[in-house]
Amino acid sequence: MTGSQEQKPHVPRRKHVAAALAVAVVIPAAIMLAGCASPTILRPEGSAGRDILTLAIEIFSILAFVLLTVWILLTFVVVRFRKRPESEASQTKGNLRIEIIWTLIPAIIVIVLFVLTVRTTQQIVTPDPGAQFTSVGHQWWWEFDFSKLGFKTANEVYVPQNHEVSIDLLSTDVIHSFWVPQMGGKVDMIPGHVNHIRFVPLTTGQYLGECAEFCGAQHGKMRFLFVVVTPAQYTAWVRNQQLPARQPEGAGAIAGEQVIQSVGCGSCHTVRGTTLKGTFGPDLTHFGSRGGIAAYTLRNTPANLLRWIQDPQAVKPECKMPQIPLPLQQQQQLVAYLEELK
Ligand code: CUA
Repeated sequence: MTGSQEQKPHVPRRKHVAAALAVAVVIPAAIMLAGCASPTILRPEGSAGRDILTLAIEIFSILAFVLLTVWILLTFVVVRFRKRPESEASQTKGNLRIEIIWTLIPAIIVIVLFVLTVRTTQQIVTPDPGAQFTSVGHQWWWEFDFSKLGFKTANEVYVPQNHEVSIDLLSTDVIHSFWVPQMGGKVDMIPGHVNHIRFVPLTTGQYLGECAEFCGAQHGKMRFLFVVVTPAQYTAWVRNQQLPARQPEGAGAIAGEQVIQSVGCGSCHTVRGTTLKGTFGPDLTHFGSRGGIAAYTLRNTPANLLRWIQDPQAVKPECKMPQIPLPLQQQQQLVAYLEELK
């Protein structure tokens, strides 16, 4: 083909256009799927995020001041003391006073940056024996353990506005990192070691949380929803989470309860109030009340749940959820049961 040679130079540009389109369309779509605002660190809605942004502005201002000063001095020196045939540059070797000054100034700048950084870090990660709950990182989902209140949930957590939230952070397998960009602070979750994060959520809303430490194949699909509500709404959420699973009402859901108890889901999942007591996978007691499936890989709809149950590996390759071969009718009953677990 003679035409192919002529077209060659255009291909990279098309690829760029395709990539730009993907960025312009896919990323906003992914954010809309999560049903919450774009997770930016530049619009903090939590005290830690605000503190970190303040620190960033402080450091940036200091560094910008240093840079400007150096540029101005440099320009002045270059112009004022440029080489002239009649003069020799003044010699500063061995001048103790100058040596001390230009050692001291950078040292002071570094100390100021250090103190500012330690101050902000202390505000965010101070250990707290009164932490309200523990967030546990798993490949690839989030557990929220409210043992003091008697329940666990997964991939979606509610907190009250304007009250300090204090969280213990742990992992069961590899290192993950807890991060709700608009709340601020990214803290590693390390197996066998408890880390902490604390902050005050300032604005009600739904915020996307994500894992900020590469933790394996589905690191990118390890998200959760962090929901800031009024204290009254929070109390209502806690009350609902404390309840055991609802009794199924629809015919499909009633059959689905039989299916879920007979096909081995209970070796990984818990549904409080039933025979399912597994702890390897997410607690499903109030699964139907959550907005997402598989750590916010999919929106929680019956069609998506069916897709997930039919072939988890197609949705999230290498995830730990096995495919359990079942007739379609039983899969649909399972979906009906799980969606009723509000
Ligand atoms: Cu968990 Cu990345």
